[in-house]
Amino acid sequence: MNQTSSYYLDLMGIQRWKSRETLSSHWSLPGDSVLPNNLPLDGFSIDQLDWDDLRSKVAECTACDLCKTRKQTVFGVGSLQAKLMIVGEAPGFYEDAQGEPFVGKAGQLLNAMLQAIGLKREEVYIANVLKCRPPNNRDPAPEEVVKCTPFLKRQVALLKPKLIIALGRHAAHFLLDTHESLSKLRNKMYAYATTEVPLIVSYHPAYLLRNPIDKKHAYQDWQKVIELLQ
Ligand code: URA
Repeated sequence: MNQTSSYYLDLMGIQRWKSRETLSSHWSLPGDSVLPNNLPLDGFSIDQLDWDDLRSKVAECTACDLCKTRKQTVFGVGSLQAKLMIVGEAPGFYEDAQGEPFVGKAGQLLNAMLQAIGLKREEVYIANVLKCRPPNNRDPAPEEVVKCTPFLKRQVALLKPKLIIALGRHAAHFLLDTHESLSKLRNKMYAYATTEVPLIVSYHPAYLLRNPIDKKHAYQDWQKVIELLQ
């Protein structure tokens, strides 16, 4: 482990330890998708939109009541050539204020985790299931997810990432069309919807801020990300 990784592990509050088993023994192989995953990518008019038009459509969206309470929409950020797409839940207070995903405390932890595995925020693409902040950071409502997620599906189709990591149960539940617990969803490989894009699931950084004991497990997930991107 180099000095920089070590620095960021300290920053994240992760103690360095060695697993007795190799991580790969816990993982299914690509193609062993353990869940039915039948989310279609087509069937929405937004399927023809390019990045600029998609961004404009999101900015003017009034499909659900979140448009009444948002300061602004939060489209997504990062490299349009990114191999890794990170999908979170929904904007919070700071994201709503700045118009960028993961810029609050959870975002700082996400940045530290990326740096710990040698990735820069600018070289990945980050988006959320919802593009508008739910009031008081409540959970996304099912009808909000239904109305908003065609945008995310189009982002995936335009980006064509090599790997998607779903952070937290809301992202995992939407992307995998399941209600399994996060602990059951981790440590497995999936394919996103009808695509061949591999997908893995990890803890949401906000959860890790409340449960730092799981940071070491999250770090294993992020090491897997690097392995899969290589
Ligand atoms: N939590 C998320 O899921 N997304 C954000 O953009 C910020 C916090």
